[in-house]
Amino acid sequence: MKFKTKLGEYQAVETADGHLTLHSGLYDENCHSTAGAYEETLHNYVYGCSIIDRANNSPITILEIGLGVGLGVLATFNEAKNCQNKIKFISTEIDPELAQWVCRQHGFSNGEISNDKIKFNIDDNFEVEILIGDARETIKKLILEEIKVDCIFQDAFSPTKNPSLWTKEWFRNLRSLCNNNSVMTTYSASVKIRKAMLEADFHVTNMKGFGNKRTATRAFTDGLFKDEKLEGELSRSKTPPFSDKDLNEI
Ligand SMILES: C[S@@+](CC[C@H](N)C(=O)[O-])C[C@H]1O[C@@H](n2cnc3c(N)ncnc32)[C@H](O)[C@@H]1O
Repeated sequence: MKFKTKLGEYQAVETADGHLTLHSGLYDENCHSTAGAYEETLHNYVYGCSIIDRANNSPITILEIGLGVGLGVLATFNEAKNCQNKIKFISTEIDPELAQWVCRQHGFSNGEISNDKIKFNIDDNFEVEILIGDARETIKKLILEEIKVDCIFQDAFSPTKNPSLWTKEWFRNLRSLCNNNSVMTTYSASVKIRKAMLEADFHVTNMKGFGNKRTATRAFTDGLFKDEKLEGELSRSKTPPFSDKDLNEI
């Protein structure tokens, strides 16, 4: 299956757990690992951010960077639907037609639709807001609105293909959306990306990677989770943190 939007062409790709992902022509990358799109989402984000424990403890707000094929929304809802507290799931997406396609595919409807937002509830406890546009700008609006998030699914395309969503300035903006006990996970374990997170005042720890990836990253705002050894190694590394000034060089 293939479809085209104003931003490019998408091609469905079957992955090892039976779930489809999309290949984006614009970014020339798949949204997920072919080792299993749904399993990867569960591993990196739903389990990586301990969504079930958190949502049993208090109401939570999740921010997802990149709606993609909507598996972040779906896997989170499936796992957390019996949790005791409300979940607000904010996702960001640059391609409006992709966001509409995702809503049709998963039967997400009965909500409010405008040029820059699709909002709906999956059940009484699970509210979804898809914010359309460049996430770099969307995040600035959330900061102005003084929104706070508990969990961040940092699921942009790779730093090579989608660099503007991996710089220290980007992570600084994400950091200002966090409270004192927020967590952010991502599949990337790159040193320059981890250093960008450290510079943005996150504490960086290792997380087991999915599929054939040995390591992924879990970052916290609470210093209790600080991994002194890893942060020491990162600080001694000569690799500079990835920053906005590197964007022009790509
Ligand atoms: C790896 S996919 C996300 C997969 C998704 N989390 C899921 O579970 O299906 C990355 C997504 O980020 C979107 N994206 C890329 N650059 C963006 C930007 N600057 N602002 C908002 N979304 C962006 C892409 O269009 C793509 O849908």
